[in-house]
Amino acid sequence: MTDHKDVFEPDQSIVDNAWVSDWKALEGKAKADPLAYWEERAQELEWSKPWDKVLDDSNKPFFKWFTGARTNIVTNAVDRHLTTARRNKLALIWVGENTDEVRTFSYFALNREVEQMANVLKAMGVRKGDVVTIYLPRIPEIFFAMLACAKIGAVHSVVFAGYSSEALNARIDGSESKVVITADGSWINGKIFPMKQIIDDAVKFSPTVENVIVVRNTGSEVSMDSTRDHWYHELCKLPIAKGKCETVQVDAEDPLFILYTSGSTGTPKAIVHTHGGYQVGTYTTLKQCFDIKEEDRWWCTADPGWITGHSYLVYGPLLNGATAFMHEGGPTYPYPDGWWQLIEHYGITSFYTAPTAIRTLMRFGDAWVRKHDLSSLRILGSVGEPINPEAWRWFHDVVGGGKCPITDTWWQTETGMFQITTVPSMPLKPGAAGRPVFGQEAAVVDEDGNELPAGKEGFLVLKNPWPAMMRTLYKDPDRYLKTYWEKYPGVYLTGDSARIDEDGYIWIIGRTDDVIKVSGHRIGTAEVESALISHPAVAEAAAIGLPHDVKGNSIHCAVILSQGYKPSKQLTADLRAHVAEVLSPIAKPDIFDFPEKLPKTRSGKIMRRVLKARALGQDEGDLSTLEE
Ligand code: WTA
Repeated sequence: MTDHKDVFEPDQSIVDNAWVSDWKALEGKAKADPLAYWEERAQELEWSKPWDKVLDDSNKPFFKWFTGARTNIVTNAVDRHLTTARRNKLALIWVGENTDEVRTFSYFALNREVEQMANVLKAMGVRKGDVVTIYLPRIPEIFFAMLACAKIGAVHSVVFAGYSSEALNARIDGSESKVVITADGSWINGKIFPMKQIIDDAVKFSPTVENVIVVRNTGSEVSMDSTRDHWYHELCKLPIAKGKCETVQVDAEDPLFILYTSGSTGTPKAIVHTHGGYQVGTYTTLKQCFDIKEEDRWWCTADPGWITGHSYLVYGPLLNGATAFMHEGGPTYPYPDGWWQLIEHYGITSFYTAPTAIRTLMRFGDAWVRKHDLSSLRILGSVGEPINPEAWRWFHDVVGGGKCPITDTWWQTETGMFQITTVPSMPLKPGAAGRPVFGQEAAVVDEDGNELPAGKEGFLVLKNPWPAMMRTLYKDPDRYLKTYWEKYPGVYLTGDSARIDEDGYIWIIGRTDDVIKVSGHRIGTAEVESALISHPAVAEAAAIGLPHDVKGNSIHCAVILSQGYKPSKQLTADLRAHVAEVLSPIAKPDIFDFPEKLPKTRSGKIMRRVLKARALGQDEGDLSTLEE
């Protein structure tokens, strides 16, 4: 074992200055009466009509929060700051991949941009409840587009700007969007990713799309269909874009967005989040867990195309009146100190990223970090997958100079807000995600739903409803019931395995279903397999995740070839490229095997568990259902 500490006690100065100084007291209070606790949190925000009930659980598990209330997340994220000194405070600092490109927006300026985009959407006939698909890179316009939709009561569906046309097409069709907002392209490590071309392919067969708004970003040549496509900067010059745009007051339970995420089977699921509960949950958790203060500069490196970007890059910071920092570029381009340089240059105080990025940067050595003065940092955070203690310590000692607490945050697209994490006044354990957020209780159960004692590994479940929880799956309430609430009635099934230690800290182990976390990205084995099967050489395919030092997991595929095809280096390269093209470059498999046949049950289901054991040279376990 190492001689490192296993528990980090917070400095007294951190405890004294934190929003939550006495975490034990607050934990106890929230546990005794979770609804009173959440009601108090909601009272910190503005509502144009108060709620009749904090929680309506009359139709479980279709929970409703703050029923009867009227609000809009934009009222709280933007409008309410405009009548205070915050109107002149920076809401957003944006730096391009080319770091000479910088754009900043005060809350006043942000509001102007959001009103402009909202006016354009209204002029295109977007009405309350309509779904607008947003396919934009990490540029300020993605903030404007999301907030503009919310402002007029439309529902945004952001699709990560790395998805390819087939995946995008399925998401546009699923949501029946009439308007799509995109860019001419995005910068990835000095190269242009042709977003507009991908949109063109995606909407070719989408009967609902009437208008495509194109933001100029890379300046590359793109083809424009004059009956459908509009440059955003040209729309902004028209009278339709000008003038004030009221923030529509909506019901607390009206949908704010849908976000597609990978499931264990079949097509991706569209998670539905609402205005009222989501604003309370994201506002509260960011404030408490990262101790957001007026003078902070908050950098969340996630892309707005994922839930982390939605909750803690766009909405959470603005709800807190904070200054958010967004960077278009990745961690290692052009040099592996780009991020450290930005922290120094912009005086970032709070830095929230993913273990895969930490491990990547750790590999380049300490010198890249030490070249920079990172003394502005006061708190660090991690999300997306378990952070291994080695990476935790490097992040803590080298990046944080030994003085910054690390808030590890376990949560999901479905949960909308943190569920298992810490606040800075708590002792920290490297590698443990932390404790359930105030008002929440978690348990680890066995196959039959019996709660397991401390130290035993099992299925992680959440016991209480929480305000930012998903309300349903878009157009698929049955799947919502089945996926999350049926296996263990009365509790929410997370899909993760974990153990709880004697102090009540939860150690996440990983997914128990066929979802693979690759570099923190959530990928379904079913999506990779169906991408592979669309290639003529592939008769059958099975994808599994295997441990990977930097990425957490990597994708391995076992492929049965169609007649006439033989394994070769070229074929492997073709298959990888094919997955990147039809699904996304983030889903590219690392390794291909070409076995004679796949292990299957007698009913024909692929036994991925067996493939995984074989690949790892482990015991294959109970093989009684295997057909061979
Ligand atoms: C995993 C990302 C360990 C987990 C916010 C979960 C984590 C899935 C952590 C959700 C963490 C997320 N420690 N595992 N701090 N955060 N996960 O929907 O397996 O992209 O179920 O949401 O990521 O992934 P999603």
